[in-house]
Amino acid sequence: MTGKHGAIAGGAETVGLPQHDPLREFAAEEVDFFEADTYCDLYSYYWTPERTREEAEFIASYCTSYSVVLDIACGFGRHALAVADILRGSNCTIVGCDRNRSLIDAARARTRELDETIRLAFQLADATEFRQPCDVAYIVGNSLGYEGEEGDVRLLRNAARNLRPGGRLIVQETTTKVNPGGAAWFGAPGMLVLEERRFDPTSSWLRVSHLRLRPQHAAVFAETRLRMYGGTELLDRIKAVGFTVESVYADVDRRQYSEADVEVWLVARLAEK
Ligand SMILES: C[S@@+](CC[C@H](N)C(=O)[O-])C[C@H]1O[C@@H](n2cnc3c(N)ncnc32)[C@H](O)[C@@H]1O
Repeated sequence: MTGKHGAIAGGAETVGLPQHDPLREFAAEEVDFFEADTYCDLYSYYWTPERTREEAEFIASYCTSYSVVLDIACGFGRHALAVADILRGSNCTIVGCDRNRSLIDAARARTRELDETIRLAFQLADATEFRQPCDVAYIVGNSLGYEGEEGDVRLLRNAARNLRPGGRLIVQETTTKVNPGGAAWFGAPGMLVLEERRFDPTSSWLRVSHLRLRPQHAAVFAETRLRMYGGTELLDRIKAVGFTVESVYADVDRRQYSEADVEVWLVARLAEK
Protein backbone atom coordinates (compact mmCIF):
# COMPACT_ATOMS: atom_id res chain seq x y z
CA MET A 1 0.00 0.00 0.00
CA THR A 2 1.34 3.43 -0.87
CA GLY A 3 -0.07 6.59 0.66
CA LYS A 4 0.79 10.24 0.32
CA HIS A 5 4.26 9.69 1.69
CA GLY A 6 4.82 6.18 0.37
CA ALA A 7 4.74 2.80 2.08
CA ILE A 8 7.20 2.02 4.82
CA ALA A 9 9.41 -0.97 5.33
CA GLY A 10 8.26 -3.75 7.57
CA GLY A 11 4.50 -3.66 7.40
CA ALA A 12 1.37 -2.99 5.41
CA GLU A 13 0.69 0.17 7.40
CA THR A 14 1.20 3.43 5.59
CA VAL A 15 2.40 6.18 7.82
CA GLY A 16 2.17 9.92 7.40
CA LEU A 17 5.91 10.34 7.63
CA PRO A 18 7.90 12.01 4.86
CA GLN A 19 10.23 9.57 3.11
CA HIS A 20 12.95 12.11 2.44
CA ASP A 21 15.35 12.64 5.32
CA PRO A 22 17.72 15.62 5.07
CA LEU A 23 20.08 14.12 7.69
CA ARG A 24 20.97 11.36 5.22
CA GLU A 25 22.72 13.90 3.00
CA PHE A 26 25.28 14.76 5.68
CA ALA A 27 26.49 11.16 6.03
CA ALA A 28 29.06 9.20 4.05
CA GLU A 29 27.08 5.98 4.46
CA GLU A 30 23.94 4.48 5.97
CA VAL A 31 24.23 1.79 8.64
CA ASP A 32 21.71 -0.52 10.28
CA PHE A 33 20.21 1.34 13.25
CA PHE A 34 21.15 -1.57 15.58
CA GLU A 35 24.63 -2.16 14.17
CA ALA A 36 26.70 -2.87 17.28
CA ASP A 37 29.64 -0.64 16.39
CA THR A 38 27.65 2.53 17.05
CA TYR A 39 24.57 1.13 18.87
CA CYS A 40 25.93 -0.58 22.00
CA ASP A 41 26.82 2.68 23.80
CA LEU A 42 24.26 4.85 22.04
CA TYR A 43 21.72 5.45 24.82
CA SER A 44 24.09 4.92 27.72
CA TYR A 45 22.91 8.20 29.28
CA TYR A 46 19.61 6.35 29.83
CA TRP A 47 20.84 2.74 30.01
CA THR A 48 22.95 3.30 33.08
CA PRO A 49 24.20 0.12 34.79
CA GLU A 50 22.05 1.12 37.82
CA ARG A 51 18.91 1.42 35.69
CA THR A 52 19.56 -1.87 33.89
CA ARG A 53 20.20 -3.57 37.26
CA GLU A 54 16.84 -2.33 38.65
CA GLU A 55 15.05 -3.62 35.55
CA ALA A 56 16.87 -6.96 35.83
CA GLU A 57 15.88 -7.23 39.51
CA PHE A 58 12.25 -6.71 38.50
CA ILE A 59 12.56 -9.50 35.91
CA ALA A 60 14.45 -11.82 38.28
CA SER A 61 11.71 -11.42 40.93
CA TYR A 62 9.48 -13.56 38.67
CA CYS A 63 12.06 -16.36 38.34
CA THR A 64 12.45 -19.33 40.67
CA SER A 65 15.16 -22.00 40.92
CA TYR A 66 15.57 -23.92 37.68
CA SER A 67 13.57 -21.37 35.64
CA VAL A 68 14.36 -21.18 31.95
CA VAL A 69 14.28 -17.47 31.10
CA LEU A 70 13.97 -16.16 27.55
CA ASP A 71 15.11 -12.62 26.65
CA ILE A 72 13.20 -11.84 23.45
CA ALA A 73 15.01 -9.31 21.21
CA CYS A 74 17.91 -9.23 23.68
CA GLY A 75 20.13 -6.76 21.79
CA PHE A 76 23.66 -6.95 23.16
CA GLY A 77 22.42 -8.80 26.23
CA ARG A 78 22.37 -6.01 28.80
CA HIS A 79 19.34 -7.41 30.68
CA ALA A 80 20.27 -11.08 30.16
CA LEU A 81 23.73 -10.46 31.64
CA ALA A 82 22.32 -8.54 34.62
CA VAL A 83 19.58 -11.15 35.24
CA ALA A 84 22.22 -13.91 35.05
CA ASP A 85 24.30 -12.08 37.62
CA ILE A 86 21.34 -11.75 40.01
CA LEU A 87 20.33 -15.41 39.53
CA ARG A 88 23.90 -16.70 39.96
CA GLY A 89 23.86 -20.13 41.62
CA SER A 90 20.08 -20.61 41.21
CA ASN A 91 20.25 -23.29 38.47
CA CYS A 92 18.37 -21.01 36.09
CA THR A 93 19.14 -20.94 32.39
CA ILE A 94 18.94 -17.70 30.43
CA VAL A 95 18.67 -17.58 26.66
CA GLY A 96 18.71 -14.36 24.67
CA CYS A 97 17.63 -14.14 21.04
CA ASP A 98 17.97 -11.30 18.57
CA ARG A 99 17.94 -11.08 14.79
CA ASN A 100 20.88 -8.67 14.60
CA ARG A 101 24.13 -10.58 14.13
CA SER A 102 26.43 -7.80 15.34
CA LEU A 103 24.47 -7.45 18.60
CA ILE A 104 24.48 -11.22 19.21
CA ASP A 105 28.26 -11.23 18.62
CA ALA A 106 28.60 -8.34 21.12
CA ALA A 107 26.41 -10.20 23.67
CA ARG A 108 28.46 -13.40 23.27
CA ALA A 109 31.70 -11.46 23.72
CA ARG A 110 30.40 -10.14 27.05
CA THR A 111 29.61 -13.67 28.34
CA ARG A 112 33.36 -14.42 28.28
CA GLU A 113 33.67 -12.18 31.35
CA LEU A 114 31.29 -14.41 33.34
CA ASP A 115 32.19 -17.30 35.58
CA GLU A 116 30.94 -20.81 34.81
CA THR A 117 28.16 -20.95 37.41
CA ILE A 118 25.85 -19.04 35.06
CA ARG A 119 24.09 -20.75 32.17
CA LEU A 120 23.63 -18.07 29.56
CA ALA A 121 23.42 -18.39 25.77
CA PHE A 122 22.67 -16.04 22.91
CA GLN A 123 21.03 -17.12 19.65
CA LEU A 124 20.82 -15.30 16.35
CA ALA A 125 17.13 -15.77 15.52
CA ASP A 126 13.90 -14.06 14.60
CA ALA A 127 11.79 -13.88 17.75
CA THR A 128 8.60 -14.48 15.75
CA GLU A 129 9.83 -18.04 15.06
CA PHE A 130 12.54 -18.91 17.58
CA ARG A 131 11.69 -22.06 19.56
CA GLN A 132 12.80 -22.15 23.20
CA PRO A 133 10.48 -23.61 25.85
CA CYS A 134 10.67 -21.36 28.93
CA ASP A 135 9.09 -20.43 32.27
CA VAL A 136 9.62 -16.66 32.06
CA ALA A 137 9.92 -14.60 28.86
CA TYR A 138 10.53 -10.88 28.62
CA ILE A 139 10.45 -8.25 25.88
CA VAL A 140 11.95 -5.09 27.32
CA GLY A 141 13.87 -1.99 26.21
CA ASN A 142 11.32 -1.07 23.48
CA SER A 143 11.69 -4.15 21.32
CA LEU A 144 8.17 -4.21 19.84
CA GLY A 145 6.82 -2.37 16.83
CA TYR A 146 9.56 -2.78 14.21
CA GLU A 147 7.41 -5.02 12.02
CA GLY A 148 4.15 -3.25 12.84
CA GLU A 149 1.07 -4.66 14.53
CA GLU A 150 1.10 -7.91 12.56
CA GLY A 151 4.72 -8.58 13.42
CA ASP A 152 4.01 -7.93 17.09
CA VAL A 153 1.10 -10.37 17.08
CA ARG A 154 3.43 -13.03 15.59
CA LEU A 155 6.09 -12.24 18.18
CA LEU A 156 3.62 -12.36 21.11
CA ARG A 157 2.02 -15.58 19.79
CA ASN A 158 5.45 -17.16 19.58
CA ALA A 159 6.18 -16.07 23.17
CA ALA A 160 2.92 -17.80 24.21
CA ARG A 161 3.97 -20.91 22.28
CA ASN A 162 7.36 -20.96 24.04
CA LEU A 163 6.04 -20.42 27.57
CA ARG A 164 5.16 -23.48 29.62
CA PRO A 165 1.64 -23.54 31.19
CA GLY A 166 1.47 -20.89 33.91
CA GLY A 167 4.59 -19.17 32.54
CA ARG A 168 4.98 -15.42 32.75
CA LEU A 169 5.60 -12.78 30.11
CA ILE A 170 7.02 -9.36 31.04
CA VAL A 171 6.75 -6.53 28.50
CA GLN A 172 8.16 -3.01 28.77
CA GLU A 173 7.49 -0.30 26.22
CA THR A 174 7.73 3.47 26.01
CA THR A 175 4.17 4.61 25.31
CA THR A 176 2.70 7.05 22.79
CA LYS A 177 2.51 9.56 25.68
CA VAL A 178 6.26 10.18 25.38
CA ASN A 179 5.59 12.99 22.87
CA PRO A 180 8.48 11.93 20.71
CA GLY A 181 8.66 14.70 18.09
CA GLY A 182 11.65 17.01 17.62
CA ALA A 183 15.40 16.99 17.14
CA ALA A 184 18.27 17.12 19.62
CA TRP A 185 21.97 16.50 19.94
CA PHE A 186 23.16 14.11 22.62
CA GLY A 187 26.46 12.56 23.56
CA ALA A 188 27.42 8.90 23.86
CA PRO A 189 30.90 7.54 24.71
CA GLY A 190 33.15 8.63 21.83
CA MET A 191 30.20 9.82 19.77
CA LEU A 192 27.90 12.75 19.13
CA VAL A 193 24.42 12.03 17.79
CA LEU A 194 21.88 14.28 16.13
CA GLU A 195 18.55 12.54 16.62
CA GLU A 196 15.36 13.51 14.87
CA ARG A 197 12.05 11.94 15.88
CA ARG A 198 8.90 12.23 13.82
CA PHE A 199 5.68 10.74 15.12
CA ASP A 200 2.51 10.31 13.11
CA PRO A 201 -0.40 10.35 15.60
CA THR A 202 -2.84 8.98 13.04
CA SER A 203 -0.92 5.70 12.65
CA SER A 204 1.17 5.77 15.87
CA TRP A 205 4.33 5.14 13.82
CA LEU A 206 7.55 6.81 14.88
CA ARG A 207 10.59 7.43 12.70
CA VAL A 208 13.91 7.91 14.50
CA SER A 209 16.78 9.25 12.35
CA HIS A 210 20.37 9.67 13.40
CA LEU A 211 23.49 11.36 12.23
CA ARG A 212 26.21 9.61 14.27
CA LEU A 213 29.56 11.40 14.47
CA ARG A 214 32.78 9.91 15.84
CA PRO A 215 36.28 11.44 15.74
CA GLN A 216 38.35 10.01 12.84
CA HIS A 217 35.26 8.30 11.34
CA ALA A 218 33.03 9.33 8.48
CA ALA A 219 29.57 10.46 9.64
CA VAL A 220 26.95 7.71 9.36
CA PHE A 221 23.18 7.89 8.97
CA ALA A 222 20.84 5.40 10.64
CA GLU A 223 17.09 5.22 10.73
CA THR A 224 14.44 3.00 12.29
CA ARG A 225 10.66 3.02 12.29
CA LEU A 226 8.39 1.51 14.85
CA ARG A 227 4.73 1.25 15.75
CA MET A 228 4.21 2.69 19.23
CA TYR A 229 1.43 1.75 21.63
CA GLY A 230 -0.57 3.23 24.47
CA GLY A 231 -0.43 1.06 27.61
CA THR A 232 -4.07 -0.05 27.42
CA GLU A 233 -3.72 -0.79 23.72
CA LEU A 234 -0.69 -2.99 24.40
CA LEU A 235 -2.52 -4.72 27.23
CA ASP A 236 -5.36 -5.56 24.83
CA ARG A 237 -2.88 -7.00 22.29
CA ILE A 238 -1.35 -9.22 24.94
CA LYS A 239 -4.76 -10.44 26.10
CA ALA A 240 -5.79 -11.14 22.51
CA VAL A 241 -3.04 -13.75 22.11
CA GLY A 242 -4.22 -15.68 25.19
CA PHE A 243 -2.50 -14.08 28.18
CA THR A 244 -4.13 -12.93 31.42
CA VAL A 245 -2.58 -9.61 32.42
CA GLU A 246 -1.75 -9.70 36.14
CA SER A 247 -0.10 -6.30 36.68
CA VAL A 248 0.32 -3.04 34.80
CA TYR A 249 3.01 -0.79 36.24
CA ALA A 250 4.44 2.60 35.23
CA ASP A 251 7.94 1.53 36.24
CA VAL A 252 9.92 -1.20 37.97
CA ASP A 253 9.14 0.45 41.32
CA ARG A 254 5.65 -1.07 40.76
CA ARG A 255 3.80 2.25 40.66
CA GLN A 256 0.35 1.66 39.15
CA TYR A 257 0.22 2.62 35.43
CA SER A 258 -2.09 5.42 34.23
CA GLU A 259 -2.68 6.41 30.59
CA ALA A 260 -0.58 9.57 31.12
CA ASP A 261 2.57 7.53 31.84
CA VAL A 262 5.37 7.44 29.29
CA GLU A 263 6.42 3.90 30.15
CA VAL A 264 4.50 0.70 30.79
CA TRP A 265 5.54 -2.60 32.39
CA LEU A 266 3.06 -5.44 31.90
CA VAL A 267 3.23 -8.78 33.65
CA ALA A 268 1.06 -11.47 32.08
CA ARG A 269 0.46 -15.12 32.80
CA LEU A 270 -0.29 -17.77 30.26
CA ALA A 271 -3.52 -19.62 30.94
CA GLU A 272 -3.03 -23.34 31.66
CA LYS A 273 -2.97 -25.09 28.27
C1 LIG B 1 15.63 -1.11 21.13
S1 LIG B 1 16.53 -2.60 20.93
C2 LIG B 1 16.41 -3.28 22.56
C3 LIG B 1 17.38 -4.41 22.81
C4 LIG B 1 17.38 -4.95 24.23
N1 LIG B 1 16.12 -5.57 24.58
C5 LIG B 1 17.75 -3.89 25.22
O1 LIG B 1 16.87 -3.43 25.96
O2 LIG B 1 18.92 -3.50 25.25
C6 LIG B 1 15.38 -3.55 19.98
C7 LIG B 1 15.95 -4.88 19.54
O3 LIG B 1 14.88 -5.66 19.01
C8 LIG B 1 15.46 -6.51 18.05
N2 LIG B 1 14.34 -7.09 17.29
C9 LIG B 1 13.27 -6.43 16.79
N3 LIG B 1 12.42 -7.30 16.21
C10 LIG B 1 12.97 -8.53 16.36
C11 LIG B 1 12.57 -9.84 15.96
N4 LIG B 1 11.44 -10.07 15.28
N5 LIG B 1 13.37 -10.89 16.29
C12 LIG B 1 14.52 -10.68 16.96
N6 LIG B 1 14.95 -9.47 17.35
C13 LIG B 1 14.19 -8.41 17.05
C14 LIG B 1 16.41 -5.62 17.30
O4 LIG B 1 17.37 -6.34 16.54
C15 LIG B 1 17.03 -4.84 18.48
O5 LIG B 1 18.17 -5.48 18.96
